[in-house]
Amino acid sequence: MWWERAVVYQIYPRSFQDADGDGLGDLRGAARRLDYVASLGAQAVWLSPFYPSSDYDFGYDVDDFCAIDPRFGTFDDLDALLAEARRLGLRVLMDLVPCHTSIDHRWFRERPDFYVIRDTPEPPNNWRAAFGGSTWSRDPYGRGWYLHSFYPEQPDLDWRNPEVVAAMQDVVRFWLDRGVDGLRLDALDRLMKDPELRDDPPRHGPPPLPLHPEHATLDHVHSRNAPDIGTGLAALRAAAGDRLLVGEVYLPNAELGPYLRHLDLAFSFELYHARFHAEAIRAALASAADTPGVAWVLSNHDFRRLPNRVGPANVRLAALLLLTLPGCAFVYQGDELGVSDGPEGPLPRDRHGRDGFRNPMPWENRSGAGFTTGKPWLPPATAPGGSAAVQGGDPGSMLNLYRRLIALHGELPTSGLEFVDHSEPNVLAYRRGEHVVVLNLGDAPVPLRAGEIVVSTAHGPPTEPKTLSPHTGVDIRTG
Ligand code: GLC
Repeated sequence: MWWERAVVYQIYPRSFQDADGDGLGDLRGAARRLDYVASLGAQAVWLSPFYPSSDYDFGYDVDDFCAIDPRFGTFDDLDALLAEARRLGLRVLMDLVPCHTSIDHRWFRERPDFYVIRDTPEPPNNWRAAFGGSTWSRDPYGRGWYLHSFYPEQPDLDWRNPEVVAAMQDVVRFWLDRGVDGLRLDALDRLMKDPELRDDPPRHGPPPLPLHPEHATLDHVHSRNAPDIGTGLAALRAAAGDRLLVGEVYLPNAELGPYLRHLDLAFSFELYHARFHAEAIRAALASAADTPGVAWVLSNHDFRRLPNRVGPANVRLAALLLLTLPGCAFVYQGDELGVSDGPEGPLPRDRHGRDGFRNPMPWENRSGAGFTTGKPWLPPATAPGGSAAVQGGDPGSMLNLYRRLIALHGELPTSGLEFVDHSEPNVLAYRRGEHVVVLNLGDAPVPLRAGEIVVSTAHGPPTEPKTLSPHTGVDIRTG
């Protein structure tokens, strides 16, 4: 399967490249920059949503599943992008948002039976929404309370209604028939809930993955991840045939099994959120060892940028880690430049505070950053190493480190990772076929075994040092 050791590059279309000067990225712009993605060595791109949207959740509130937001372009633009991708040998994944629509979708007006709506005097239960507040809001059409797992403007579809399932299967076929190679499936753990809508019990102790504080007060045994989730997933699989399905399933590795029975891949959020310390990373990797189909990802449009989560000193190590793990890895646009949380615009856009993880790409050092000739919708991102143009010419840049690591990723075996013991507590070492990867996450130099250094995160030409500096890592060929 082409994705078994693929590197997939996530494009957040509104911040990637603007072609028409309106300050928002678009499909024509993205197509123009695909040669850059190919130059990284990636095998595929995943495009975050470009459906018509009212931007309550910037594309994840879909007004029409079988259309393109005119701000992003036309079907001709999409076809041109697909053709350009094919020319460059890149596959294209789209984002499918099966769990909810926008409150402005015509289904919400016309097909209340497509949603979870209850006409009760009080909200039907105690469930909390992912971004805080109740999951129930008063229906604007006077039909009672409607369920929404995310923002109130994102009413949840009722996946227990066979007509909903059939409608979403049509959507899957619509895009795959157009030549898309696969789908990233949004928020899948929310697809199906307890049909009796029973209360979630209070949670004791911290949640296994970070959650909004209010959401974290409950143990979500009923409001998501229903035991019969497989029926919804099987329907998506039936429509997708053998195209790639990647699930965004916000659960610990141990709970991904039922999803991976139907999907090809599911992101590991346990590694994503692991404390950047050897023991925590090791535990997150070990817990995925028995789960083939885990896709590795350390960054996306929903959480703080890597320098702000793992610390600037560890950013190059994070790249080495991500790209030396077995299987498929996802890189979020801008990470290859070392982009950090960006400046907010004069007006906050996302109510959940995610603007700073979505700033436009800093392509060049000039006004509009080479992203737009107009006024960018958010201020362009910045990276300590400078723009893509500057970094391209610097062999020691983050950009060129990513290129070396993506090339290495393609040489490593698709499966198998064996931990190698190291005397220092904050060193993580693992064997991958003939290669050994050693990451010194600590603040002191550590001894390094001999071997040919294939890639080092240290600046400067590779040497054969006897010690590994703090916050430095290497891939060594031992065979
Ligand atoms: C996913 C998306 C996120 C969105 C949410 C609701 O987690 O990545 O951006 O807000 O789903 O659709």
